[in-house]
Amino acid sequence: MTKKTTPEQMDEDQTLDLALRPKRWEEYIGQEKVKRNIRIIIEAAEKRGDKAPEHMLFHGNSGLGKTTLAYLMAKEMKTGIRITSGPAVKKAGELAAILTNLSEGDILFIDEIHRLNKVCEEMIYPVLEEFNLNLVVGNGPMARTVDLKIPQFTLIGATTQLALLSGPLRNRFGATFRLEPYSQKEIEKIVKRSADLLGVEIDKESIKKIAERSRFTPRVANRLLKRVRDFAQVKKDGKVTPEITDTAFKNLNVDKKGLESGDINILNTLIEKFDGGPAGLKALAAASNERQDTILEIYEPYLVQIDFIKRTSRGRVATKKAYDHLNKSYD
Ligand code: ADE
Repeated sequence: MTKKTTPEQMDEDQTLDLALRPKRWEEYIGQEKVKRNIRIIIEAAEKRGDKAPEHMLFHGNSGLGKTTLAYLMAKEMKTGIRITSGPAVKKAGELAAILTNLSEGDILFIDEIHRLNKVCEEMIYPVLEEFNLNLVVGNGPMARTVDLKIPQFTLIGATTQLALLSGPLRNRFGATFRLEPYSQKEIEKIVKRSADLLGVEIDKESIKKIAERSRFTPRVANRLLKRVRDFAQVKKDGKVTPEITDTAFKNLNVDKKGLESGDINILNTLIEKFDGGPAGLKALAAASNERQDTILEIYEPYLVQIDFIKRTSRGRVATKKAYDHLNKSYD
């Protein structure tokens, strides 16, 4: 149900991710416009004496910092935060348990909210509007409804697929924010900050190389930094140099654009099996042996962003840039 990971249960990467996560608003690099607007909403709600700011929806590709922002908001508001996700809440009873355990002013963060099932989604509407939970107790002729008052809280919904969210759910958020990919400079700052926190010595050129391969996503940048650090510790004295960085990426099969074997497989399939496209999502998934949602949520956003794939009304098409990158002739 809700996440309850103890430090003992976490693997090293997760522990480090937590260690690298900004703890204060000022430490969060990038997304300046979103941060500014969120702070205004929080401050205005405080000034009015509201028990909780309006519900908010964050959308954007995975790894851009939606969860981190929610944590920082809780810190700023000095309230509790409960974290769960659409697919984790399977039954109405589970959602009811989460809602009834909230305290006034808390944040409830639901990741991948587009995957919340219909029953839960409909149950949450009156909660969002009037903080009323209508529960059906018992079944058959004995079934009756009870109305429970839920303490006022702020729902933060996060999604990678805004289009999959139903209209009624979208309309219940007071504000919607789109998180954008980071700039090269912002990612470089994040890599430097993470290296300092990890106690890793690193030069400017290596930082630049890591940032260039990060897909402009902090989570990926931090993951790459950790892998390069492993190489530096095993092969050298722990100091990250451009040579070590190149060796690490070569061994990890991360190319100059940050593409890994999964991305290359998608591009190769599109080019070789569909003659560059157009190919529909279903056909591309079957031919590349990947799940449709993995293509949609993991591979495609970045391939579209760097202009390697175009989405057309008839399907996905590989661009000349993609052919050039893979050293294939485009005719
Ligand atoms: N680590 C992950 N995301 C970050 C961000 N936006 N700023 C600073 N550190 C981060």
